[in-house]
Amino acid sequence: MDTDVVIRPVGEDEREAWNPLWAGYLAFYKTALPQDISDLTWTRFHDPEEPIFALGGYVDGELAGFAHYLFHRSTWATHRYCYLEDLFVAETARGCGLGRALIDAVCAKALAANASRVYWLTQSGNAQARALYDKMADNLGFIQYRKVL
Ligand SMILES: CC(C)(COP(=O)(O)OP(=O)(O)OC[C@H]1O[C@@H](n2cnc3c(N)ncnc32)[C@H](O)[C@@H]1OP(=O)(O)O)[C@@H](O)C(=O)NCCC(=O)NCCS
Repeated sequence: MDTDVVIRPVGEDEREAWNPLWAGYLAFYKTALPQDISDLTWTRFHDPEEPIFALGGYVDGELAGFAHYLFHRSTWATHRYCYLEDLFVAETARGCGLGRALIDAVCAKALAANASRVYWLTQSGNAQARALYDKMADNLGFIQYRKVL
């Protein structure tokens, strides 16, 4: 990529830059969240007691994408797993490697935290995301069931 790309944790003072990306991500999923949930999520990213994190992808100094990830225990492993919950790149920044760089950065964080696995989900019809994921990780054929409580 010719442009200057930096991946780093999203700072607590960057809420204004993160807001439109978060809104874009929710719109991509044709959903909305109560404001207090977004506020809580933002607070958790910056609470050292919480195992949930936000990495930002910066293109020429502007926040243009994010990866949100968290760590949890597993019944199958000694070490924790890392779940990459949200990945988003602004439309104007797509196709030049930011998504790949964000996933690589989450993997590096997970390795540094001694996690034994990074995993993520996507919808089967998300061809754009799968074009990237199929190059980076294995699809083991799991499907997700969900029961909302
Ligand atoms: C999925 C998403 C994060 C990818 O981000 P991105 O920055 O465009 O991805 P990259 O530029 O790193 O793409 C990496 C690879 O995927 C391929 N790719 C990306 N978009 C593609 C497309 N539309 N068609 C074909 N291949 C594509 C590229 O060829 C590239 O391969 P390469 O690195 O071998 O050259 C981005 O499209 C996005 O935010 N989509 C909307 C939200 C979403 O779907 N999030 C994921 C939810 S699980």
